[in-house]
Amino acid sequence: MRAFVSLPVPEDLAERLETLAALRFGRAVPAENMHVTLAFLDDQPEASLQALHEVLEAQVLRAPQIAVTGLDVFGGDKPRSLIAAIAPDEVLTELRKKVRQAARSAGIALSHERFRPHITLRRFQRLSPEERDGLERLLAAQGGFTWPAFRPAEVEMVQSTLTQGGAVYDTLVRYPLAP
Ligand code: 2AM
Repeated sequence: MRAFVSLPVPEDLAERLETLAALRFGRAVPAENMHVTLAFLDDQPEASLQALHEVLEAQVLRAPQIAVTGLDVFGGDKPRSLIAAIAPDEVLTELRKKVRQAARSAGIALSHERFRPHITLRRFQRLSPEERDGLERLLAAQGGFTWPAFRPAEVEMVQSTLTQGGAVYDTLVRYPLAP
């Protein structure tokens, strides 16, 4: 089962981001699918996810502060995705570390990626020069978008099913976060 662990995004923020990220190209992430990924688990046997579940369930996890500091692009010269950047937060870094450690202790291997907390809004394949200009214009107009900090109430383990129409997400379990 393909799965990941993430923080949910409040509906009002997600809807605002969906509107801001409106472009005629790329593949939009619908508001209801927006999240902050803590660990992408990839395809795992159910027994591994169950083992991870048992570790997560037994832990006290603290709620981080999530503050959107602007819109940005990942991929530099070859834009891969339009994202909402999230301010660095010690509790968030700690939470990600705990989730990754829990995954490893459940026998799940994770790729080593620098943590740049974000919400993905739109994904791109190869962009034409006109599309790149369009993206530049969007960033010039909306790149300064910010949203006040909030504390998510829970962490989610989510199943991701790939379909032709994009990924379909189903929340498997929610773990409460301590304030
Ligand atoms: P992203 O938003 O930064 O692209 C669920 O697929 C989440 O896991 C995505 O939001 C994605 O984060 C993250 N992820 C990390 N590595 C991935 C990969 N190789 N394939 C798909 N998703 C990945």
